Amino acid sequence: MTGLVEGKAVLVTGAGSGIGEAIARLFACEGARIGVADLSLQAAERVCSAIISAGGEAAAIQADVSDEAQVEAMVAKTVERFGRLDGAVNNAGVGQERKPLPEMSRAEFEAVLAVNVVGAFLCMKHEIPRMVGQGGAIVNIASMSGIEGVPMMSAYSASKHAVNGLTKSAAVEFARRGVRINSVCPGTVNTPAIQAYAAAGVDFNAIIPTPIGRIAESDEVAQAALWLISDRSSYVTGLPLWIDGGMNAAPFVVP
Ligand SMILES: NC(=O)c1ccc[n+]([C@@H]2O[C@H](COP(=O)([O-])OP(=O)(O)OC[C@H]3O[C@@H](n4cnc5c(N)ncnc54)[C@H](O)[C@@H]3O)[C@@H](O)[C@H]2O)c1
Repeated sequence: MTGLVEGKAVLVTGAGSGIGEAIARLFACEGARIGVADLSLQAAERVCSAIISAGGEAAAIQADVSDEAQVEAMVAKTVERFGRLDGAVNNAGVGQERKPLPEMSRAEFEAVLAVNVVGAFLCMKHEIPRMVGQGGAIVNIASMSGIEGVPMMSAYSASKHAVNGLTKSAAVEFARRGVRINSVCPGTVNTPAIQAYAAAGVDFNAIIPTPIGRIAESDEVAQAALWLISDRSSYVTGLPLWIDGGMNAAPFVVP
């Protein structure tokens, strides 16, 4: 039996942890060859080794997505290694310290935008030309914070709204040139980033009660990205796909 993304060359950013790691591992199980990119080379190499040990094909790449030269080199290394680029999941992102907007410095605000917005822009800027003509699919990992506002997380929420705007605009620009571009918008996901907030006393189940009654696991987000990169979603582009346990369906929770 062949995998859902058999033979495709797929670049995953922020693949050294959490959702990105789950995406890299799942895609490899489904037959893709993976460019495992992360700010931390050590983290990228750990995930790459795990994929290779499980019989998959992967290359570890160190890259900071907020630096254009590094993004250009990251895409070039993936193409050099696998001969082409069929898919990309732009997942690398950072959170912010929870605080009221007036207490945030300009530097803190811009640091979030540099990775989440400029990073997604730079990745698409260098990925799309590799796909035009041959076809390809891009998934940007946005957030439900890119659909709704989030008190005490204004920079993060603004950055993810921007990711959805970039996604929809680019999707329409390239819809007739064979490149589909979608975003995945998770609610709260059980990853090291969220575990750090939890360790600081934030109870996500209390402040964001989801109808399903629990936060998501990384693999549940990875499955959505898999479908959007695969040819099964061939008529889907410009979609912000909510993976939110029903959170946005109604302003009520039935206990
Ligand atoms: N965890 C959640 O609840 C949640 C919810 C919605 C959206 N998201 C989004 O999902 C994505 C992954 O989140 P996660 O929870 O898995 O985070 P994580 O912190 O577990 O992993 C993020 C990875 O990105 C890497 N990274 C950070 N800055 C980078 C940069 N400048 N260049 C390259 N790599 C960089 C980190 O080294 C890390 O390996 C992010 O975009 C995040 O905003 C997360």
